[in-house]
Amino acid sequence: MKEKIILNKTEDDSLTLYLPEYDENTHTIHGAYTEALNKHIIPSGICNKSGDLCILDIGFGLGYNILALLDSFYTRSFSSLRIISFEKEKGIADYLDMVEFNDKRDDLYVMVKDAFNKGSFSNDKIKIEICFGDARQNIKKINLKNSVDAVFHDPHSPGKNSELWTINFFKHLQACMKDDAYLTTYSFAPQIRYGLVKAGFFVGSWTGNCFEKEGTIASKSIFKDCFSDDYIRLLEADKRSTPYLDNETMDLEREIIRINRIEAAKKRKELIQQV
Ligand SMILES: C[S@@+](CC[C@H](N)C(=O)[O-])C[C@H]1O[C@@H](n2cnc3c(N)ncnc32)[C@H](O)[C@@H]1O
Repeated sequence: MKEKIILNKTEDDSLTLYLPEYDENTHTIHGAYTEALNKHIIPSGICNKSGDLCILDIGFGLGYNILALLDSFYTRSFSSLRIISFEKEKGIADYLDMVEFNDKRDDLYVMVKDAFNKGSFSNDKIKIEICFGDARQNIKKINLKNSVDAVFHDPHSPGKNSELWTINFFKHLQACMKDDAYLTTYSFAPQIRYGLVKAGFFVGSWTGNCFEKEGTIASKSIFKDCFSDDYIRLLEADKRSTPYLDNETMDLEREIIRINRIEAAKKRKELIQQV
């Protein structure tokens, strides 16, 4: 029997989706909406920017990153906000209808749901576009060179959703970003941080918000508090830091994991021989 998608309540009362494909909730159980705000919107620094803004959202899920962004911009001045969100799972529309906050976020969520149901939403200042399908293919189709102000990189965990954590995919994201844009992600795993470095990013961590675990930020340009060369050398020497690579000929994330295991074993051997 096919396992069902389930909605679970998290500690801040917002709902999360359990997706059987990943055997994982789409958010932390410690607070789904709080996670969107604290792991993406705040560390990205997007709220300090104004003018015409463009945001890439990797993994729409329940659309909380978009909602938290809209809520944060509610009282701010900006010219226009364009949000492009990638999502491969179309069968979650009914679950979006069950999301309720009982405050002004419900009005904003109408725009998010409308975008998901119709493929896009726009008013005089806000445009939300949903690119359905595999983000690896869609990233090659959108023409966004050097024009994105923030990337919310929010797939499922690296071991289960590895196709979106590869050097190849990071390079595509990097090409879309402006020099002063940040990519934010919740993972602090060495293979992810080193994968970002190998894709050409300067990388650092964010800490100090309401979650105990640190996350990662990355930019095309050097930034205050990004990791030092010494730290990157340590990362390179870490036997856990073999990044994911997509051979781009197969459509199987399992293949990426398999290649990663082979490469990681090779690296471990090399490190042992160096001792
Ligand atoms: C952790 S959830 C995202 C949560 C979401 N950002 C939110 O605010 O609610 C990850 C999402 O990425 C989607 N996803 C996974 N692999 C994908 C792929 N290759 N292309 C597009 N979307 C993908 C999943 O279907 C899932 O909805």
